[in-house]
Amino acid sequence: MDTRAPLSAVAKEHLAFCQDVLHGLAQPQKELACKYFYDERGSKLFDEICQLDEYYPTRTETALLEACGAEIADLIGPGVCLIEYGCGSLAKIRLLIDALDSPALFVPIDISGDHLLDSARALAEDYPELDIQPLIADFTQALALPEKVGQKAKRVGFFPGSTIGNFDHQAAIKFLRTVCETVGEGGGLLIGVDLKKDLKTLIRAYDDTAGVTSAFNLNVIERINRDLDGNFDLSAFCHQAIYNPEESRIELHLVSLMAQTVHIQGVDFRFAKGETIHTENSYKYHTEEFAALAAKAGFTTVKTWVDDNELFSLHYLTVCT
Ligand code: AVJ
Repeated sequence: MDTRAPLSAVAKEHLAFCQDVLHGLAQPQKELACKYFYDERGSKLFDEICQLDEYYPTRTETALLEACGAEIADLIGPGVCLIEYGCGSLAKIRLLIDALDSPALFVPIDISGDHLLDSARALAEDYPELDIQPLIADFTQALALPEKVGQKAKRVGFFPGSTIGNFDHQAAIKFLRTVCETVGEGGGLLIGVDLKKDLKTLIRAYDDTAGVTSAFNLNVIERINRDLDGNFDLSAFCHQAIYNPEESRIELHLVSLMAQTVHIQGVDFRFAKGETIHTENSYKYHTEEFAALAAKAGFTTVKTWVDDNELFSLHYLTVCT
């Protein structure tokens, strides 16, 4: 008989973080998964990034949602069940809820439980009519929706912010297939996707002059120091944002400024001068490229909206029948 006490969710998260870090830093190209950016400090820094002049995605997507709300509402129709994937602060869903014709139910899904429940509570105060059923889960996995969702209402997913850009193409297709299954026949997905554009605009968005993105990137190794008893010297690493044209993606790295050894949980990791830890990918698309990717996952593109400066796109997709 297994007499060990079950691990609490917090202990499980900590263990997974530890294993992923030790594994990622043992690779020939050292890497850390971008989901580990978002501890409390990282989430605050990300909110700050979204306010930066140089970071065009947030304000451009918000403006698109405002400008196209009526059209989106017409396509989506009345009384739907909305499902938001990885929702953070739930700011953008307000615009969608305001635009839609009396949505029946809202299921925000996020892995960060406390943050999700706080945001859901705040939303409930402003929308007393709306039934809100938060789901604490990893949205990349197949989901058991709350029973209330039922089979009758049309289900529409919402995945803003170009978070899809964190996935490589294979993983993006896999994720979209999962969404397809979750929303089912007759369902849809409204998704924000960042566009290919001139190099200067792209790099500025990920290497701002105030250094917020740098602090955001470096926070992941500070987190390792805090949570995993690491001894990274923050002044011996610097933030780097590059565009990889073969892969059409922005890459964030942390560059080791000298030859050095870092200890984490009793394990030594050697860094050559100039060696990097790859911390994030952010894929960029042409609208037609994204439509082709969505088609591989079983979605038809009903309508695509792009701002006048062609910086960012919104896509309304429906499940192919
Ligand atoms: C949350 C993945 C959409 O890729 O633009 C912003 C994250 N990283 N600045 C992005 C991010 C650095 C962001 N996504």
